[in-house]
Amino acid sequence: MFDTQGLLISLEGIDGCGKTTQAGMLQSKLEQQGIPFISVREPGGTAVGEDIRNLLLQSSYSMTINAELLLYMAARAELAEQFILPALLDGKNVLCDRFTDSTLAYQGYGHGADLQWIRQLNHQASRGRQPDLTILFDLSVKEAVQRRGTKVDRMESNDFYYHQRVRKGYLELACSEPYRFFVIDGSLSVEKQGLIVWQFVRNYIDNRSETGTGDEF
Ligand code: TMP
Repeated sequence: MFDTQGLLISLEGIDGCGKTTQAGMLQSKLEQQGIPFISVREPGGTAVGEDIRNLLLQSSYSMTINAELLLYMAARAELAEQFILPALLDGKNVLCDRFTDSTLAYQGYGHGADLQWIRQLNHQASRGRQPDLTILFDLSVKEAVQRRGTKVDRMESNDFYYHQRVRKGYLELACSEPYRFFVIDGSLSVEKQGLIVWQFVRNYIDNRSETGTGDEF
């Protein structure tokens, strides 16, 4: 079904895990190798999505879990429709700094929203397109909190136990779909993680070109 399409690669992890630094490094590698891709982040990446991002992260509103969850979905629907799906159809790879698993981990495992409902909404917002590969940067909450420093946004200001549930959620998701997730130790040096990520992605892309199909992913 997706044989001529690009690959959708998502990067996930708790706040402070270092995934955005790694996203930048991976982008540079892809550029150097002349591999066609676009890079996006969630929430954001569209006019509406960036406004939603500010509402979710920078505002001091206290909001219900369902409102929070649906705002993330609205941002996702915009981004998928406007950028992700057209790029994939055009044969470009898409590097996504957070995607559907963030909602399962943060609103589902973290806040207790119904996982089945989130899966349905994810399906609609992304038009059924799942990531082919998800790289999870796993780090203890203690270390992530130290890295984050004192200036925190609305989501980061959730308590320690919330972030522990999110981490546990991510690890459960990774265990339930081992063929999609690649889990990396976020406490390794930035350079070492960069090397491991690049080797894995490179092999993944090469294997896919050799088999000529993405159906099995
Ligand atoms: P980040 O772009 O710096 O990672 O910030 C995004 C924040 O939003 C982060 O705290 C994770 C959170 N988030 C959710 O809670 N649910 C979601 O579906 C997404 C995409 C992000």
